Amino acid sequence: MSATITLQQLTDQLAALEAEAEAAIAAAAGTAELERLRLDLLGKKGRLSAVLGAMGQLPGEERPLVGQRANGLKEQVQESLGARLSQLKATALAEQIAQERLDVTAPSRYVPPGHRHPLQSTLEEILDIFAGLGYQMADGPEVESDHYNFTALNIPPHHPARDMQDTFYLDPGNLVPGGDLGERLLRTHTSPVQIRHLEANPPPVRIVAPGRVYRRDAVDATHSPVFHQVEVLALDEGLDFSHLRGTVTTFLQRFFGDLPVRFRASYFPFTEPSAEVDVQWRGRWLEVMGCGMVDPAVLEGLGIDPERWSGFAAGLGVERFCMVRHGIDDIRRLHTSDLRFLEQF
Ligand code: DAH
Repeated sequence: MSATITLQQLTDQLAALEAEAEAAIAAAAGTAELERLRLDLLGKKGRLSAVLGAMGQLPGEERPLVGQRANGLKEQVQESLGARLSQLKATALAEQIAQERLDVTAPSRYVPPGHRHPLQSTLEEILDIFAGLGYQMADGPEVESDHYNFTALNIPPHHPARDMQDTFYLDPGNLVPGGDLGERLLRTHTSPVQIRHLEANPPPVRIVAPGRVYRRDAVDATHSPVFHQVEVLALDEGLDFSHLRGTVTTFLQRFFGDLPVRFRASYFPFTEPSAEVDVQWRGRWLEVMGCGMVDPAVLEGLGIDPERWSGFAAGLGVERFCMVRHGIDDIRRLHTSDLRFLEQF
């Protein structure tokens, strides 16, 4: 029964295996398929091992012939596998590069990412006008001390503006450990920036200071516990009420258009005299800001000589400017991000 194999048969098998292996390697479409081929051809239980196993049936002197041939084939197959693998990798890389290429000559397709909130564009317009008048930007903290928010602005200890009804006081228990334990509050107006700026910058100064302010107001159509103000301060030699009037009128007419502006006598602790300013907007007088000549007591508190330096200050609410300009009837619309509203601007 000895179905012994002949040298010729084994040599034929090797030749057939070579042809088959080369064709399969060349046709392999991916690295996984290539790995399967490698195991099938060269693995322990692979086709080449099978041929080598059968070699034992040959007479001793014939074995080296087959052995040599088999080893040559093994090397050849390994080489082909390696070459095909690099080829596949190069193709994959080229494809990836082609796919990820950025065509800088493609026509642009601009998708706007959004646009300015009406409150922001109002603020920017206000600041632009003052920048055009030679004013610089200043700012200060929203968490303030009683001193800057009130005392230094000539608002004495029992002034109604300090009332708990109006001011958010911070719980001293929540203050930063090691911080000074003076009373802390959320600033109720941007006027403290006047003081902070003058402490750090000797006159002459011309500044605008925008920012958030806080008051214990219940929310309704015209009140919000957080809103925005812009503070204006000019201090120089020889400034008088006509400069205040001219500056405020110029500003209002640039913002609202060429409409009537009137000044009414009023009272603020940090200005003397003080005025409230109205604009005639669509037939009605609307109050839009407060202003006045800086009170000498404020300057004295800062060690600035009121005989030499004088100036004016003004404060306005950004929400109010925005609402008047755009005919918005409810301040809450500015603080709730309803796209149906915002998209109209
Ligand atoms: N600080 C005032 C307020 O919040 C507004 C104001 C009035 C500011 C007159 C001023 C000013 O600088 O001169 O109501």
